[in-house]
Amino acid sequence: MQNSKIIKSTGTTTTTTTEPAHTTTMSTEEPACAAADPEADTADNDSEEEEDEEYAKKVKLVQENPAFYTDAAAYWNNVPATVNGMLGGFAHINAPDICGSEIFLQSIFKMKNAPGHGRAVDCGAGIGRITKHLLQKHFGKVDLVEQCQSFLDRAKESLKSSPKVGEYLCQGLQHFAPEPGTYDVVWSQWVLGHLTDEDLENFFRRMARGLKPNGVVVVKENVTSSGIVELDEQDSSVTRPESLLLEIIDKAALRVIKNTKQNNLPKGLYEVKMLCLRPK
Ligand SMILES: C[S@@+](CC[C@H](N)C(=O)[O-])C[C@H]1O[C@@H](n2cnc3c(N)ncnc32)[C@H](O)[C@@H]1O
Repeated sequence: MQNSKIIKSTGTTTTTTTEPAHTTTMSTEEPACAAADPEADTADNDSEEEEDEEYAKKVKLVQENPAFYTDAAAYWNNVPATVNGMLGGFAHINAPDICGSEIFLQSIFKMKNAPGHGRAVDCGAGIGRITKHLLQKHFGKVDLVEQCQSFLDRAKESLKSSPKVGEYLCQGLQHFAPEPGTYDVVWSQWVLGHLTDEDLENFFRRMARGLKPNGVVVVKENVTSSGIVELDEQDSSVTRPESLLLEIIDKAALRVIKNTKQNNLPKGLYEVKMLCLRPK
């Protein structure tokens, strides 16, 4: 079974059951007179805006419903505990993804006041793909936080020979609250769309408190190019425009010290941004 989180792309998705109004493709059957009517453009814009507003209301309602979290948990419980499962059937993007993250992390270690190499946490860790291929190489200890027990069981199996792995925490990120001053790096990737805006802001605040001196929070997420939040009713998540992500980061009293685009992903996918954050 494929999941849609990584593979869908604005306007081309076949898995999102509710298309945002603005991504609907123009019908080729458009009457010729439409372009000639001077009021047609304004009318079109008005109805498009209304549809966008309706869509935004629907997204808000879905996020406010507690089922937003339980539906996501149910969805992931049915996804195979494999790299392919984690990457929505796109296992081949594992290498470019890890390579982009490696370069990004190295650039973070080269910064003035760089974080230490002591302890990191992999948030929404899935089967431990990022811990295995990236984080355990750079940190003395890595904890994994993941809400799906079968994914954590798979991670334990695959990382059993690694002396670097610390705790396996089966928990939703909306509840994860590390002790203050615990981590050099908090890594969260392809998971934050599963949190409501309010929970995301609070998550960022708790992660900021959980940082050691010079510690950073890394966010690697899809962003929409439409300027609006797009809902995925299949896996019960949203994809935010970068502007909203930055707004939430700012509200959480964090500042962006690096903002980079992931390159070398196949065409047709959402743009993926890597952000390095520090408390203001
Ligand atoms: C697209 S996978 C990405 C996994 C991993 N970050 C990676 O890139 O390989 C999304 C992961 O987020 C987890 N997840 C979804 N909602 C979550 C939540 N509220 N708290 C923690 N993990 C969550 C899912 O169970 C799944 O393992």
